[in-house]
Amino acid sequence: MRRQKLAIITGGGSGIGFAIAQKFIEKNIVCVIAGRNPEKLEYAKKKLGEKCFSVPLDVSDLNAIPLFVQKVVQQFGYIDILVNNAGINMKKEFVEVTDEDFQNILNTNLNAVFSMSREVVKHMLANNSGCIINISSMAAQYGLPKVIAYTASKTAIDGMTRAMAVELSPSGIRVNAIAPGFIYSEMTAKALDSDPERKAKVFGRTPMGKMGEPEDIGNAALYLASDAAKYVTGVILPVDGGNSIGF
Ligand code: NAI
Repeated sequence: MRRQKLAIITGGGSGIGFAIAQKFIEKNIVCVIAGRNPEKLEYAKKKLGEKCFSVPLDVSDLNAIPLFVQKVVQQFGYIDILVNNAGINMKKEFVEVTDEDFQNILNTNLNAVFSMSREVVKHMLANNSGCIINISSMAAQYGLPKVIAYTASKTAIDGMTRAMAVELSPSGIRVNAIAPGFIYSEMTAKALDSDPERKAKVFGRTPMGKMGEPEDIGNAALYLASDAAKYVTGVILPVDGGNSIGF
């Protein structure tokens, strides 16, 4: 009998990360969701059921990552899938962004993805198999104003995805990214509703004419994590209703 797969999903307590965990668990993949907010994690765990384990972790605390990964391996024995989903954004005029703002965003969205991937890959190499999925953004596909640090971080994620894919795929570790378009959440809906000009721009260049849902990203992650994608590596998969190719 094949053993159950084990996935780590950072930021799995809400939004897209939660939807990915939901899809994985539906397919019998055990999920360790890691995030900053213990109450949110506990609530998510209750909804996701017994195949979900929650671990409080602030990924921007890079020193805490090796111990976190070690504990997961101690408890489960292996890690099949890593979804680097935790991310933060900040909308500010270019000249208003402080060095500290910039570093904070890069620390969570980029440095933590590197550290987490490195620690997990050490174990994946021992098994000669694994799958890493990074969550990128439209900010890496075209220029978005007022999100300079976020854009820098997500563009670096795309480059890192390709570099990791060429280095790790020969060892059986596939590395891909998903570039979500405008995905519905209370926060994104509120942000667009308060900025009608931006909203018109978003929908104007989205051929499907609507926002995506977190489960759309969940389905894409499930595909990339599955054997159906066993020959897919180094890909940045837009899930965006055509937003990235919209006129
Ligand atoms: P969200 O805010 O609902 O989820 C982000 C999760 O990451 C939260 O659970 C949060 O607690 C966690 N997180 C943030 N900083 C953390 C830290 N230092 N340590 C541990 N956990 C941390 O937002 P959403 O929309 O679900 O975003 C998930 C990912 O998708 C992010 O990487 C975001 O950049 C990306 N994305 C989202 C889009 C959207 O339209 N919602 C579009 C493109 C990309």
